[in-house]
Amino acid sequence: MKRGNWEIRDLPEMPFTLLIQKTDVSLIQHTRAVTRTALKIAEVLIKEYGKRVAINRDHLLAGAILHDVGKLFEYRREAGKFVKSRRESSSAPDLRAAFAAERGLRPRSSTSSPPTPRRATAPGGRSKRSSSTTPTL
Ligand SMILES: [Fe+2]
Repeated sequence: MKRGNWEIRDLPEMPFTLLIQKTDVSLIQHTRAVTRTALKIAEVLIKEYGKRVAINRDHLLAGAILHDVGKLFEYRREAGKFVKSRRESSSAPDLRAAFAAERGLRPRSSTSSPPTPRRATAPGGRSKRSSSTTPTL
């Protein structure tokens, strides 16, 4: 908020995207919708797969709430309108990386392998993994 020179009162007016000329969906409303959707998806996964899928609710909520945090850097206000920032690099991945770096989080090494996704066993499906490899979402 501070880095983007935003005040709390700006948030309800901030659009969720600059790609649509006129939208009445705010970033706050979009973030709330994404968060509620994520919670519903988790609810369905738990109902369908039970303990075969472990969902870290804190991570889920943090990810949903912060998924568009880069827009606070990406946007600026000019003559009352929200426009794209003139910052040197304002692509979403760059902004997220800068945001994470400021908070002491390091990016994954480009030479390291991406994390191996663990597979949940679909009902009726077969898995060679033991129950101790329950995937965490
Ligand atoms: Fe979004």
